[in-house]
This record gives sequence, C-alpha cells and structure tokens, in this order.
Amino acid sequence: MATPIRKALFPAAGLGTRFLPATKAQPKEMLVLVDKPIIQYGVEEAVQSGVPNIVIVTGRGKNAIEDHFDVAVELESFLEQRGKTAQLEEIRKITRQLNVAYVRQGEPLGLGHAVLVAKNLIGEEPFAVILGDDVIDANPPALKQMIDVYQRVGGPVIAVERVPDEDIPSYGIVAVEDSGAEGGDLGRGVHRVKDLVEKPRREDAPSNLGIIGRYILTPDIFPALEATASDRTGEIQLTNGLRRLLRERPLYVYEIEGVRHDTGNKLGFLKALVYFAMRRPDLAEPFRRYLESLDLKIGVET
Ligand code: G1P
Repeated sequence: MATPIRKALFPAAGLGTRFLPATKAQPKEMLVLVDKPIIQYGVEEAVQSGVPNIVIVTGRGKNAIEDHFDVAVELESFLEQRGKTAQLEEIRKITRQLNVAYVRQGEPLGLGHAVLVAKNLIGEEPFAVILGDDVIDANPPALKQMIDVYQRVGGPVIAVERVPDEDIPSYGIVAVEDSGAEGGDLGRGVHRVKDLVEKPRREDAPSNLGIIGRYILTPDIFPALEATASDRTGEIQLTNGLRRLLRERPLYVYEIEGVRHDTGNKLGFLKALVYFAMRRPDLAEPFRRYLESLDLKIGVET
C-alpha cells in the first residue's frame, strides 16, 4: 500500500498580471467565481479528496488569502447575533476542516521553485500540488481520482488533458508509452511517461497531452528540482524537474474525468463563471433566461 497523501501544495505567489487592474491590490487567487474565490474551489477539492493539510506558497500582497482561510471572529458573531445561520455555516465550513500553513516564495522564480520553497513543510512524504487556476468540476473530485491512480501505480502521477494544437505552447506536453485504448494494465486514462517538455512550439511537441494543474509527487522531486537549471526566462520549471526525475523512476499521467476550466485567462475565467452559475439551483433558471435574452451580436461587426 502506497504512503497516504496528507498534504496539498498550492503555489499562489504569481503576480496575476493578466487580470490587471483587478489584481493590483488583490491576489488573483481571490477573484470570485459566483461567490467563492478561485482558490477555495481547489482547497475544497483537496478536502473532499481526504487531504485537509494545505500548504500555500504566497508572496507580497497575498494577505487576503490568509485572512480568507482564517477564523473571522467579528463576522461570525455579527452573523450569530442576526440569526443568519446559513451564512454562518458557510463561512465556518471554510476553516473548520482545514489546517493551513503558509510559506513565502520571495522571488517569482517559477513553479519548480515554488515547490522547492515548501520542501521543509512537506518533508519526506508524497504530496499533491494543485494549481488553483485550473478549476475542475468532477465527481469523484479530480484529486481523489489521482490519489486512486497513485495508490495503484505507486509513483508520481501528473494530470493531463488533450489540448487543441494552437494551445500546445501554453502547456507542459507529455509523450507517453502506447498502452492501448483501455490503458492496458494501468487502467483507463493512465499512461507511462516517455518524455516531458515545457511549452514547446507546436512543431516540436511530442503529443497533444497537456499537463493540467494537478500533480501527485514524491519527495525525490526536491533533489531533482535542486539539480534543475533555470530556463531562458530565469525560472525553474516543474516540468524540467520531472524530466530529470524520469531518469530515475517511472512517472505516470492520468486523464481526469471531469470538466476543467482554465481561469488563468480572461476567456477561461468568463466561461467558468457562466458554468458555475448554471450549476447553482438558485441562479440557474433566472441566469439562463437572462443569457437567452441577450442580443449576442452586441459588439460583433456584421
Ligand atoms: C504551468 C506548468 C505547465 C502546465 C500549466 C497547467 O504553466 O508550467 O507545464 O501545463 O501550468 O496550467 P503556467 O500555466 O503556470 O504558465
């Protein structure tokens, strides 16, 4: 039986320049989908996957994340006095099942570097990495699906999705061994990794399997990342650390069953907003009526 996954790491030190000016004084992780900050979707996924210990890698200007996952004493007593039990329950739920630790990245030196700064908080055990930008609606939760695969294969598991050719340069791309339509012995959607390359040009990509923001890693990723050189942009890439680790042990990818939204760009964010609004019983019907009433030619030249 593989060692259980107890900790989930959330890199959250990025500057969020794509969402300026919204992110000038507010972390991008706190942008809201309906009524929940983006990072809370990922944190709830971890908790629902049986992983309540959260490590968030933050940086300057990210205090709102710490406040969000802290107990809000004044707010709770205000809601209590007013008898607003539903809202009180909702905000207590955020903190009750969690154990959150923070570590600062200091300099934005890449995703691999963000994982490295959490080395001491993780220690000598396997752990999950969740990139909050990728919000995944799935049942069972995406991380739970990955943990099940990890327990079966007993090694690192990286979530992937087939991405359109034009999007290849935005992803880590993975070449896999052919395991047949049914995935062979490894099971549906699971493949052994042959190679990984961070954000290749379309013509250099070994496949269209793009890494999405979920990883189950083992502690040997830390020495691999320490030995990984910075890339042209001065960043240490997690993909390059994994490529190095591949020399020493097998790695696996898993195609998650669920709907994934990339909220890290404006169009993906807007799609996610509509998607999650339509999943809310109190909003779905009036929101659908509103959407149908829109003149969708607005702004389009005819
Ligand atoms: C990161 C990883 C990349 C991965 C992507 C998934 O890139 O470096 O390999 O495909 O997340 O969202 P970023 O989107 O942070 O530039």
